[in-house]
Amino acid sequence: MRKAGPPPSNPKGPRLSDGKTIGDLFNLDRNEVAMRVLSDPEIYDLEMEKIFSKTWTLLGHESEIPNKGDFVLRDIGADQVIVTRDNKGKVNVLLNVCPHRGMRVCTTDSGNKRAHKCIYHGWAFQNNGDFIGAPIAEEKMHGCKMEKSELGLQHANTHLYGGLIFACWDHDGETFEEYLGEMKWYYDMLFCRTDGGLEVVGPPQRFIVNANWKTASEQAAADGYHTVTLHAWLGELAKFNEGDIAASMYGTEVTSRMGHALRCQPVANKFKQAAKGFADGSLTLEDKLALLPPPGVTKEMLPQLKRHLSKEQLELLVDQPPQVGGMFPNILVAFIYAPQPDGTILGLTSLHSYVPRGPDKLEFTNWIFAEKDASPEHKALVRKVTIQMLGTSGMIEQDDSDTWPHMTINSKGPQGRDMTMKYQALNTRERPKSWPGPAEAYEGFTSDDTQWNWWLRWYDLMTAE
Ligand code: FES
Ligand SMILES: [Fe+2]
Repeated sequence: MRKAGPPPSNPKGPRLSDGKTIGDLFNLDRNEVAMRVLSDPEIYDLEMEKIFSKTWTLLGHESEIPNKGDFVLRDIGADQVIVTRDNKGKVNVLLNVCPHRGMRVCTTDSGNKRAHKCIYHGWAFQNNGDFIGAPIAEEKMHGCKMEKSELGLQHANTHLYGGLIFACWDHDGETFEEYLGEMKWYYDMLFCRTDGGLEVVGPPQRFIVNANWKTASEQAAADGYHTVTLHAWLGELAKFNEGDIAASMYGTEVTSRMGHALRCQPVANKFKQAAKGFADGSLTLEDKLALLPPPGVTKEMLPQLKRHLSKEQLELLVDQPPQVGGMFPNILVAFIYAPQPDGTILGLTSLHSYVPRGPDKLEFTNWIFAEKDASPEHKALVRKVTIQMLGTSGMIEQDDSDTWPHMTINSKGPQGRDMTMKYQALNTRERPKSWPGPAEAYEGFTSDDTQWNWWLRWYDLMTAE
């Protein structure tokens, strides 16, 4: 086994205390990354500053806070935030740090409040973050050096996309549209396709995994190889893909230098019976929509799809929908067709964020979604089956969360830290000529291109001036 190297000296990025730069930890010619990035505390601190303070992060869905005053606590990297719906109905993302002496202004996980009062000295803030006052108003407890208007809670730049709440601390940085870039065309198919949009089915599951946030997040950039081995039971026992799990890794992977990725898998390969006629041209778009509606969409909602999506998007969604992938930095997007005991196939929609909780801890957050206009029975079934498959008790992700801690521990050993993670199984085929969408598109068996783009985005941000 060889170690990282020959690390051609690459002076890019901050210099660490042992003299190496971030650039030195990458071999850009051989597509390798030194293992130490998975647990080095210095690198973790830099990530909080150069990634989580600079780019957009998913915090939840607006259906979690439907009423004025509703709030939930979430995290942008190492900074906790209050996600609130204010008295005017607007969603705000506020740093949960009291401007007085730094206590947490809100210490309850979720709830409804017109105002948030700090338990330490009593400074109070409206649910839009504006400072209201301190307890002994006539004594000017808030001081005489600053105006009340200057003492509000710090706001993050906030953007709602298909009801998903994203935030970014850098008000002068990339716009949300720039962040999603060309990949928006694909995400629109999933999040912006119906009149009512998605809604959460209950609060998210949250649990701690003893692993670095990147072990899970780079896997979310459409790692297909692990499915064949780590989740082999999906084919053997659960009869996913009619028993042939390797065959489900054929398709087209789309990705961009922004680090996002999705794997689009032809349903004709996945479900030879249910999707009979999908590939040979014998079925119309309407026939296909009726036979195998996209995950989460009931047959009654099909006309809505036509209103929201272009013909090219709709055809792709029906023939070869995005099934799994992620958004940089720490989001997994899962659209799963789960075979049911009665022979039907249920579509599941779930999003995860892998929130950093230190160099070797992450908080796994699992939101389960259903279309808002779906029936209560459909929502209940989606919730039940998603819990069986994904998240805390999910059979699939118990496999995944078994590997991440081992990688994290290995990255701490004096030998292991200089080993490299390798992303050398790259697609050498041409972009498929008939591919209808933008971004990079790689047809065939899954490849490392998507994950390497994830690492290049990490590299770009970590080495940025
Ligand atoms: S720290 Fe919040 S009121 Fe003093
Ligand atoms: Fe997995």
